[in-house]
Amino acid sequence: SNPSLLILPGDGIGPEVMAEVSKVIQWLGDKRGMKFDVSEDLVGGCAYDKHGVPLHDDTMAKAQEVDAVLLGAVGGPKYDNLDFSVKPERGLLRLRKEMDLFANLRPAQCFDALADFSSLKKDVVAGLDIMIVRELTSGVYFGEPRGIFEEGNERVGINTQRYTESEIDRVARSAFELAMKRNRKLCSMEKANVMESGILWREVVTEVGKDYPDVELSHMYADAGAMQLTRWPKQFDVIVTDNLFGDLLSDLAAMLTGSLGMLPSASLGSPMENGRPKALYEPVHGSAPDIAGQGKANPIACILSFAMALRYSFDAGNEAERLEQAVNAVLADGLRTADLLGEEGVQPVSTSEMGDAIVAKLEAS
Ligand code: NAI
Ligand code: MG
Repeated sequence: SNPSLLILPGDGIGPEVMAEVSKVIQWLGDKRGMKFDVSEDLVGGCAYDKHGVPLHDDTMAKAQEVDAVLLGAVGGPKYDNLDFSVKPERGLLRLRKEMDLFANLRPAQCFDALADFSSLKKDVVAGLDIMIVRELTSGVYFGEPRGIFEEGNERVGINTQRYTESEIDRVARSAFELAMKRNRKLCSMEKANVMESGILWREVVTEVGKDYPDVELSHMYADAGAMQLTRWPKQFDVIVTDNLFGDLLSDLAAMLTGSLGMLPSASLGSPMENGRPKALYEPVHGSAPDIAGQGKANPIACILSFAMALRYSFDAGNEAERLEQAVNAVLADGLRTADLLGEEGVQPVSTSEMGDAIVAKLEAS
């Protein structure tokens, strides 16, 4: 049977950018014989409007069954005063939690035509294509004890960095699997010099590495890693790190390459029966209420999120590559949505013009 995909466009610009992904999906089916069983459903504010909850149980059940979920964005001013329990982002949080998505993938990819956009020197970022895997469900953001306590005559704020072997093992496996689908190079980052959890992290990652003899594994202290990421990011391919370091390093790496409208992401869980990991793909950006409904949104982040799905859920790395090349080609032609404008005299294209141009490049490739 065909691979299955659940599309959750969400709110604001979510449906606008998702419409452009649908063009790509249609094209893959028509022209390359790559058919998906696509179903579409509600998440976020639009789900609240219809069901009174930001994610219906039926939608949750569907998400658990499909090979991949692709989400647009949720939220908007209309929902800002809702009770916490039904806020749009609760829908997204429920998906992440119940699918147990413990590995967050944030690529930093630089398209040649946008190399001037970076705050770094052009030769440092041109052609950059690296992936940060951040552990997402444990570590210092969740460890107990936590709280603000009285201690003597003052208060003390406490968080606990805590990782079990199995938590490290599973995220390490996700990272090694990715490395196998990429350039077989993995760098693990922690602070084994000053942290017990870092010592255990290094030990477990090294042990998991024995199951992946084809992957070249290295270790780096996370602070040195931050330096190396800005000095010469192309030395890396896949980086795996914990929740806290990953939060910082993935934001840093993402901005090596520029605009929010360009950034895809994925969150992966354990392998399902068919061997595919549970997976949710989504652009990093939100619902952008300031530009929603105006045809100004950049669909590339969402299109590249789908490219990640092709590569990491559907074993279609070659189609992912083609799609990324098509994005690169339209940018090289000078097409820009409003968020990418910098140069004088360039007229922005609309969301749908950008999508059409990308499909036209696919057609020509
Ligand atoms: P945002 O990412 O929606 O927008 C930040 C700025 O970037 C805005 O000026 C927006 O116009 C621009 N922008 C974002 N995506 C763009 C795109 N594809 N093309 C062109 N410009 C783009 O973040 P903001 O404004 O903080 O939040 C707006 C709403 O989105 C809130 O309700 C927030 O809760 C929600 N949100 C949802 C997320 C999600 O669904 N994963 C993530 C972040 C925020
Ligand atoms: Mg962050």
